[in-house]
Amino acid sequence: MAGAGPAMTGAEGSKMNSRKKPDDLRSHRWLGVNDLRSFGHRSRLRQMGFDQPDWGGKPVIGIINTWSDINACHGHLRARAEDVKRGVLQAGGFPLELPAMSLAEPFVKPSTMLYRNFLAMEAEELLRSHPIDGAVLMGGCDKTTPGLVMGAISMGIPAIYVPAGPMLRGNWRGETLGSGSDAWKYWDEKRAGNITDDEWGEIEGGISRSFGTCMVMGTAATMMAITEGLGLALPGASSIPAPDANHARMCAAAGRRIVDMVWEDLTPARILTPAAFDNAIRVHMAMGGSTNAIIHVVAMARRAGIALDMKRFDQISREIPVLANIRPSGKYLMEDFYYAGGLRALMFELAERLDLSCITVSGQTVGENLRGTQVHLRPVIRSLDDPVSTSGATAVLTGNLAPRGCVMKPPAADKRLLKHRGPVIAFEDYNHMAREVERDDLEVTPDHVLVLKNAGPKGGPGMPEWGMLPIPRKLVKAGVRDMLRISDGRMSGTSYGACILHVAPESYVGGPLAFVQTGDEIEVDAEARRIHLHVSDEELAARRARWQPPPPRYPRGYGAMFSAHIGQADEGCDFDYLLAGGKIPEPEIH
Ligand code: FES
Repeated sequence: MAGAGPAMTGAEGSKMNSRKKPDDLRSHRWLGVNDLRSFGHRSRLRQMGFDQPDWGGKPVIGIINTWSDINACHGHLRARAEDVKRGVLQAGGFPLELPAMSLAEPFVKPSTMLYRNFLAMEAEELLRSHPIDGAVLMGGCDKTTPGLVMGAISMGIPAIYVPAGPMLRGNWRGETLGSGSDAWKYWDEKRAGNITDDEWGEIEGGISRSFGTCMVMGTAATMMAITEGLGLALPGASSIPAPDANHARMCAAAGRRIVDMVWEDLTPARILTPAAFDNAIRVHMAMGGSTNAIIHVVAMARRAGIALDMKRFDQISREIPVLANIRPSGKYLMEDFYYAGGLRALMFELAERLDLSCITVSGQTVGENLRGTQVHLRPVIRSLDDPVSTSGATAVLTGNLAPRGCVMKPPAADKRLLKHRGPVIAFEDYNHMAREVERDDLEVTPDHVLVLKNAGPKGGPGMPEWGMLPIPRKLVKAGVRDMLRISDGRMSGTSYGACILHVAPESYVGGPLAFVQTGDEIEVDAEARRIHLHVSDEELAARRARWQPPPPRYPRGYGAMFSAHIGQADEGCDFDYLLAGGKIPEPEIH
C-alpha cells in the first residue's frame, strides 16, 4: 500500500502533542469571544435553556445520529444518544445532537449506495458549519458507517464511532434464522413449493425480532468490525448486541472518551495510518466479511490520503484465513460471536499478524487494547491453526472481462464453481433478468453462467445489491442452489453463492461486460484470480463499435450530480470533487 498519510505512528504523535486549552477549541470562535455575533450564539443557546456553565470552556461534542422512524437497525439510537450525552457531561463536555440522513438499507431505493456520499457530505458539513470540537458518529446499518467515517475523516476533528450493534438471533419454530441469508434460502424453498404461505409468514415475523443491525456477517457487521479494527471505535464496541445493557454503557464510555480526545487533539489523521488500514483489512478477512467492504475501505483510505487499491485486499486475503464461524460463510450469528469474546477475541487470535503499535480512539495501542482477552467459544472463533476456511474471505479477479478487477467471496460459493467454464445467458438489465429467470422454458443448465449488465455505479444507478442473481425457477425446482453469476453490481453481505461482483469498468460506461452476449463462454479460476471471456479481441472491438451509450439516467438533481462525479467500484465509488486535495478553511464568522 502506498501511503500519503501521516508518517509518525499515532502513539508517537499522541505523546508529542500537548493538550489543548479552552481558547484553542473551535467552539471558542462561536461562544468564547465578546462580539455581536457571539452574543447571538449565546443568546440562542440560552433560548434553549442552556447557560454559561453548560458550555463555558468546554468541548462541544456533536453527536451525529442516524436514527429515524424508518430505520429498524437504528431504532435504539434515539435512546442511546442520551447515554452518549450522559458520558459527555460526566467528562465535562457539552453534547449537542445533530440528526443526519438515516439510510435504512431495506427501504431506500434504488439503493442506499446512491446516498452514501450524500451522508458523507452531510456529516462533514454538519461538523464544519457548527461550533463542534469533537464528533460521536452513531450508525451501523450498511452505508451509514462508511458515510459517517468518510465525512469525519475529511472534516478532520477528533471523532469516535459508536456502532449500533447487531440485533438478536432470529427464530422460527425453534430454528435460528439469520438476516437476509435465511430469507434468500427460504424464498427458494417457497419458489420450489417446499414451504407454505403460512410458514413463510411465520418466518417474516421471526427473522428480525429486536432493533439492531443484521446479525449475520453482512455489510453492517463487517463495517462495524472494520471501523473498530481501524481504531475508530472503543475496543469491543462493534460486537455488542444492540439490546444488551453493555451497549448503553459503551455509548456512555464513548461520550466520556470523546471529550478527552478533543483535549488530546486525537484526530482521525493521527489514527488512520497505512498500518491501521492493513489491520482493518486483516480483520475483514478473518471475519469472512462482506464484499461491499472493499469499496468502502478503499473510499475511506483515499479520504485519509492513503492510496489503497483492491490488490492489497487480494494480497492480505492470501495471508489471513477466515476465523469467525459466522453465516453466510459459517454457522453462527453475531450474538454468538459476542458471547465468544467478540472482536477483541478475534483480534487477539490474529495478534501475531496485526500491527499492535497502532493508536486507537481509546488512547491506547491495539496491543494494549487486547490485554486480558481470550476466546470463550472455540467453535465460533477459530484459531489460525484450525480456521473456518483457508481461502481468504474475498478474491480479486482480473481478465479481459474485468480489466480493473472484480471480486468474489470463495468461502460462500459452491466449490465446484470456483474453477468453471460455461455458456453465458446475458441479461441487459434487472427487469430483463427478473422476467427470464421465472420462465419454465428457459434453456438453462447448472453449468450456465448468468450475466447481469447495467447494475453498476452509474448504470444501476447506485450499484444496487442485485449481484446474487436468482437461480432460474426451473433449476430451483430441480434442487440447484448455486450457479456462477457475474455482474457490475454489488451483493448484500448476507448473500452467498458463486457471485462475481463489482466488474470494473461497468457496462453502462462501455466496460467489456456491455459486449457479452448469450452463447459466449466465460471461464473463471478463483485460485488463479482469473476471469476470461472467450471472445476474440477482433469480435469484441466490432461489438464495441456497434455499441450505443445509454441515455443519462437523470435530467436534474442529486442523481445528475451523482452520475457526473461518481467513481468506479475499484476507486471506492467516491465523488471526484470530494477526493480533491487541499484544506477547506474554517468558516468565517461575521
Ligand atoms: Fe440495516 Fe441490514 S438492513 S444492517
